Amino acid sequence: MPRGFFITFEGLDGSGKTTQLRRLATSLTAEGHQVVTLRQPGGTALGDRIRNVLLDSRSEASLGPIDPIAELTLMFADRAQAIAEVIVPALAAGAIVLCDRFTDSSEAYQGGGRQLGSQRVLAMHDAVCGGLQPDLTLLLLPPLEASLARARRRNQRSAQTHGTDENRFERESDEFYRRIYTAYCEIAQRDTGRVVPITQDQGVEDIQRIILDIVQQKLAPLTVTS
Ligand code: TMP
Repeated sequence: MPRGFFITFEGLDGSGKTTQLRRLATSLTAEGHQVVTLRQPGGTALGDRIRNVLLDSRSEASLGPIDPIAELTLMFADRAQAIAEVIVPALAAGAIVLCDRFTDSSEAYQGGGRQLGSQRVLAMHDAVCGGLQPDLTLLLLPPLEASLARARRRNQRSAQTHGTDENRFERESDEFYRRIYTAYCEIAQRDTGRVVPITQDQGVEDIQRIILDIVQQKLAPLTVTS
């Protein structure tokens, strides 16, 4: 059975990862690759419902405070569904899967931000994800302040123009985001073979070129042997 290539994008809200994922998808498709994109939470019908509960800042008005372990478990419920419904079938068909966030986000946000610790998150990953790991993780890590300012501007715009509200996380304190930033740095130091940190705060096109270079280097040996 052919095995595709699994790439995840990670970073703080406002790091620019979603824009870069879309641009990479366009470039790889133009090169003739079969590309499947998705985001977490979301990417399936069940996942979209979970996303709405977890990201809408109005959720807690009707549901009450969401317990951090319940939040973590819902992130993994979303992930389990996406793995079964989208990721594994796409990889089996030989596609390149580009996923906007994966388990590193749970480790950074729930493990670091919510202070549940990495071990609990990694144990849940082992129990739920059936050994699935990204082949490559692009970690966009521009300076914290730049990311936060961008995320807050974007969410205000989105609320005004689309009436959507995905502000539940963005309302958290700067301290919460500092813990996430630290957790991402620790993940990058631990998983050097998989995680490529991109710390420059350059223009979109420059970062796009850097990412395309990294991905083409990773894909080259696979293309030669297949
Ligand atoms: P985004 O789609 O704009 O990146 O927003 C997703 C939000 O959900 C973001 O604030 C990070 C958060 N999140 C977690 O806290 N844990 C997770 O495991 C995932 C996938 C996302």
